[in-house]
Amino acid sequence: MSEKVAVFDTTLRDGEQAAGTRLGSREKLMIARQLAQLNVDVIEAGYPNSSPEDFEAVQLICQEIQGPTICALSRAVPDDINACGKAIAKAKRPRIHTGIGASDIHISGKFRDERYGKTLAEKRVKILQMAIDAVKLARQFADDVEFYAEDSGRADLSYLFEMIEAVIQAGATVVNIPDTTGYTVPEQYGCLIRSIRERVPNISRATISVHCHDDLGLAVANTLAGVQNGARQVEGTINGIGERAGNAALEEVVMALRTRGDYFGVHTGIETRELYRTSRLVSDLLGIQVPPNKAVVGGNAFSHSSGIHVDGFLKERTTYEIMLPEHVGISESRVVLTARTGRHGLRDRLKKLGYTLSHHDLNQAYQRFLAVADKKQEVFDEDLLAILRDEIHPLPEVYHLDYLHINSGTSAIPTATVRLKIKDETHQGAAIGDGPVDATYKAISEVTKTSAKLQRYEIRAVTSGTEALGEVTVQLEQDGRKVVGRGASTDVIEASAKAYIDGLNKLASLVPKAGV
Ligand code: KIV
Ligand code: ZN
Repeated sequence: MSEKVAVFDTTLRDGEQAAGTRLGSREKLMIARQLAQLNVDVIEAGYPNSSPEDFEAVQLICQEIQGPTICALSRAVPDDINACGKAIAKAKRPRIHTGIGASDIHISGKFRDERYGKTLAEKRVKILQMAIDAVKLARQFADDVEFYAEDSGRADLSYLFEMIEAVIQAGATVVNIPDTTGYTVPEQYGCLIRSIRERVPNISRATISVHCHDDLGLAVANTLAGVQNGARQVEGTINGIGERAGNAALEEVVMALRTRGDYFGVHTGIETRELYRTSRLVSDLLGIQVPPNKAVVGGNAFSHSSGIHVDGFLKERTTYEIMLPEHVGISESRVVLTARTGRHGLRDRLKKLGYTLSHHDLNQAYQRFLAVADKKQEVFDEDLLAILRDEIHPLPEVYHLDYLHINSGTSAIPTATVRLKIKDETHQGAAIGDGPVDATYKAISEVTKTSAKLQRYEIRAVTSGTEALGEVTVQLEQDGRKVVGRGASTDVIEASAKAYIDGLNKLASLVPKAGV
């Protein structure tokens, strides 16, 4: 039997932190539920001391999610660790992930203040003590404590070994060796992991974890090199989202270990058929598109187009395919639904896509499906997902679009009239703008008396053809908080209005700012 490599997902912490978009607790919980379906070993749910929202989300995930270990991040300071302790109190399998800079660049750059020491040598001593104290304090809240030696990829080796030995002695159960800046190359990173195994005397008492960033496009390769050299936990995010160029894409790491099990000789516990669904959910909720050529989960990852490839593939699929699409959860059949598809057919299809709807939600989705099917001859899975995202609101609606009228053209001043239901009262307003979308957004802002700033606007056709559903994703910012709003319609101005209103509803649902 091959050895198991644990999978540590940090989409909700390292991924969300960098996406520029804050997810609400309910959205985080949706992702956590899907990560549990994917059977990850550890979910890093957030950084509780960073904001009341993060604290609340970690707490909620700890209460609701049963299978995986739930982990919370902290710096090596008591306030952070105490907040983690409180947030994870109800988890069945809690873990605290604490740590501090290990490279001289981090030590002298981040700990400039003289209270950390005057010289680099003095600072190193102080940082080492902070690391030990942090692990000891974290152990008072959880038996499972992971320590990260930040920027290990550029750290002085003897100091790094000393730090790892000391934190294991203090009670760390997992030692994370992050290549925080994505600086290393695979051979070097693999060698680093091997040398930790060879040179840290008490290393057998802890699991080595690898956490790689993708600044040079090497995060997955470095992670795999770490596994080859003895790491038994891999960290990463779904779709590789994360700081700057992102983290190691977990779906790629997992499928590499599975597809090349002959080479790596290890296995994970991941239910790989959930990968595609997880990827789409993360992409949808964070509003970050998956490039079509992305390995494992990209739209083209399993399509063959050149004549020679198609010919070979049709004769024998293994000529050009090293993984089966079904293994990552991409169903081969693209069953097409039409206006004649009944409620049952729709329900079955949605179930296959992973959505079991309540009677009320199914009715709502069905009405919307019929309206779309009337305009389009065929409704694809992607259309259904857009309908679901748009129609089945996880949040109570403060604002609801009742009516939208646009006057626009080559020689007209774009004008929008909107009527909204705001807490059951009807309000109406009009505005002119640089274009129909701008006019619509100005009219909505006026009617809702909100001042959210539009930071990003993206539109895409969900399927092909001029009658395709258009899906609009916006990023709104208000008082330093960012949310993603989404809307779909065969009319792109209506989709734009819905996306904006969805964003306003999300802003309205955020917990007021306060200390933890
Ligand atoms: O990249 C990094 O060093 C991190 C740590 C906080 C684990 O994300
Ligand atoms: Zn990171």
